[in-house]
Amino acid sequence: MKILVVGGGGREHALVWKVAQSKLANKIFCAPGNGGIAQIAECVDIKAEDIGGLINFARKERIDFTIVGPEAPLAAGIADEFNEQGLKIFGPVKKAARLEASKVFAKELMAKYRVPTADFEIFDDPDSAKGYIRKIGVPCVIKADGLAAGKGVIVAKTVEEAEVAVKLMMEDRVFGQAGNKVIIEECLYGQEASILVITDTKEVVALSAAQDHKRVFDRDDGPNTGGMGAYSPTPVVSASLLKEIMKKIIYPTIGGLVAEGIEYKGVLYAGIMITKDGPKTLEFNVRFGDPETQAILPRLNSDLLEVMLAAVEGNLSGIKSMKWDERICVCVVCASRGYPGDYEKGKEIFGLDEAAKIKDVVVFHAGTKKDGNKIFTSGGRVLGVTGLGDTITEAICHTYAAVKRINFEGMHYRKDIGYKAIIR
Ligand code: AMP
Ligand code: GLY
Repeated sequence: MKILVVGGGGREHALVWKVAQSKLANKIFCAPGNGGIAQIAECVDIKAEDIGGLINFARKERIDFTIVGPEAPLAAGIADEFNEQGLKIFGPVKKAARLEASKVFAKELMAKYRVPTADFEIFDDPDSAKGYIRKIGVPCVIKADGLAAGKGVIVAKTVEEAEVAVKLMMEDRVFGQAGNKVIIEECLYGQEASILVITDTKEVVALSAAQDHKRVFDRDDGPNTGGMGAYSPTPVVSASLLKEIMKKIIYPTIGGLVAEGIEYKGVLYAGIMITKDGPKTLEFNVRFGDPETQAILPRLNSDLLEVMLAAVEGNLSGIKSMKWDERICVCVVCASRGYPGDYEKGKEIFGLDEAAKIKDVVVFHAGTKKDGNKIFTSGGRVLGVTGLGDTITEAICHTYAAVKRINFEGMHYRKDIGYKAIIR
């Protein structure tokens, strides 16, 4: 089969790397790809949001199957447009992608179908939002309704901070239309986990659970990022807790969509807070997580392409479950100076070959560019260095040994990825 992967980050490198292992894949393209993906697939210079360009390419190259990495094209309806052209694509249609594209839609669906989540109110004018904040007090969480590249959520510890968040979103419009509405919700406490499932609407197959590290600095300090590292599996999610999450969150959400006349084919990602009152949903994503995917896929023994095809064809009942390597996988993100704010680009990256020589280590590229034989930084999150180990300690040691062989000017990374699993 000819495969097209849409996107160009670490998640897409991991997807291309895994799909390349499938006996069903003969040729893989990636649009736009990155410096690492270019070493294992053919990168084509089409942006992930250029749906028309991607359709033309898929038709011209007779692509058999397209896999979408990021949320923006899904929210814009890439799956609907490919389906209309009779092109097979992995990812939910626009109406289903609202689960991520509109937090208001997601919260209202959860309320209607009794999916556990933080108590909330929705506001479309800043004065009532601020009035409500003064009424309920802090801490509280302010969320922009629409897509904001992971920056639209503020956990406010003071009333002033909360009011500033409302002002930025609703008056200054820092996220544009995404701030037309905001959600103000109760602050939840507990450990977070990422639950990813593949579904064809009728059947659901769970991937191994992961834990992300969203804050930029060690000990969960500093601003939120797209994710500075992840590990999988996580002891936070036991087999019985996974069952509970499926029963209380995943099935009712997919069932709720069906009741609203919406099919869901693709990956559904639930960000969960494990509170003392049980698991509660923080957010849904309609795609693979980044960097969770980089920590999950190296452990997957099953053919991912086969599972994705089955989901799109509505045949997931034939799959039942996936096979996993028992070992633990850790992914450490190496970022550019300045990230998650404005960051530097164009720095040469050294030591990639040396790092890859370490056993059971894979270096996934995120923001990189190939120029001749050299690799340069081109994004905020640059690399996802991934290592396997029989224990979490061994996986951490492997991964950081590889990280230490890599450098570029201004490189920074968290030193405590996976430590929560050890402390437990
Ligand atoms: P979200 O994009 O909704 O997952 O939010 C990003 C991050 O903000 C989450 O991973 C949590 O760390 C934090 N967060 C979101 N909602 C809440 C909440 N209700 N209580 C506490 N923290 C939250
Ligand atoms: N790692 C969080 C996300 O993919 O949204």
